[in-house]
Amino acid sequence: MKTRDRLRIAMQKSGRLTEPALELLNRCGLTFRQSRDKLFCFGDGEPVDLLLVRDDDIPGLIAQGVCELGIVGRNVMNEFQLAAGRDSAPLREWRPLGFGRCRLSIAVPQEFDYRRPQDLAGQRIATSYPGLLGEWLRTHGVDATAVTLSGSVEIAPKLGTADAICDLVQSGGTLVANQLRETEVLLESEAVLAGPVALPADERGDMIDLLLKRLDGVIQVRESRLLLLQTSRATLEAVTRLLPGGPQPTLLPVLGQPDQLMLQALCAGEVSWRQLEEIKKAGAREMFVLPVEKMLA
Ligand code: PRP
Ligand code: ZN
Repeated sequence: MKTRDRLRIAMQKSGRLTEPALELLNRCGLTFRQSRDKLFCFGDGEPVDLLLVRDDDIPGLIAQGVCELGIVGRNVMNEFQLAAGRDSAPLREWRPLGFGRCRLSIAVPQEFDYRRPQDLAGQRIATSYPGLLGEWLRTHGVDATAVTLSGSVEIAPKLGTADAICDLVQSGGTLVANQLRETEVLLESEAVLAGPVALPADERGDMIDLLLKRLDGVIQVRESRLLLLQTSRATLEAVTRLLPGGPQPTLLPVLGQPDQLMLQALCAGEVSWRQLEEIKKAGAREMFVLPVEKMLA
């Protein structure tokens, strides 16, 4: 088999995941030359190219080796695995990416008196996720019929082609607009970096290793803040006790003020005004909260 030396990443051509996925790759130092209306985007610096496709096609492209990685919803990846079964190379979720959060849920019309999974016995459930729905029905011992639709699942109960639906819910707006009530969550989903279980043992594998490390740095610092402040030695303990979680802070001397220290702390999440005010009350001053752009552990 002929091997490529450039890495290929598939992602959604246009949709909810497109912008955040591109932004994430940019933050990992990957930029692409071609315009976005093309199927193929050539990578600028690193040997990484983009394939812009329908999200439902991404797992199959990875399984066939057309690309090494894909940015796709967990729902799409898991559905593919269930549908393709043993006929296809298994995929692995290499990283959750923290955007595109949604859930795969069962919803019923308002007048449906739903209390427990068994209430779905004998009912028709419209879905684009027959694999995930079928697995849930089996787990709960419910004998229902999955009606597979490729889209507009939410109107099936009104059209009389189904009694309930199993579809993605993000804001819940679609359910409200169609007088449907969410009753069960089958899967919590978000965008993930998907790839084969066994990564290629060549330059592409090395590039994937590098990308995973950068990705970890980006994801880790996305929520991180660097807190800088001054405190006297006398109030240091009180100030330190109030610091939000994170690694041990660093202390630096302040020139010409032997009693003063500059404290530097990496915080795992947002630092609120309230927290700052509390820390100030304990004796800190000259406080700064800075976003963290990159981190390489
Ligand atoms: C999904 C899903 C619902 C909608 C839910 O469709 O099928 O229609 O989003 O979102 P909401 O809870 O915020 O209203 P999507 O927009 O992904 O299009 P698709 O079904 O064509 O993939
Ligand atoms: Zn879709």
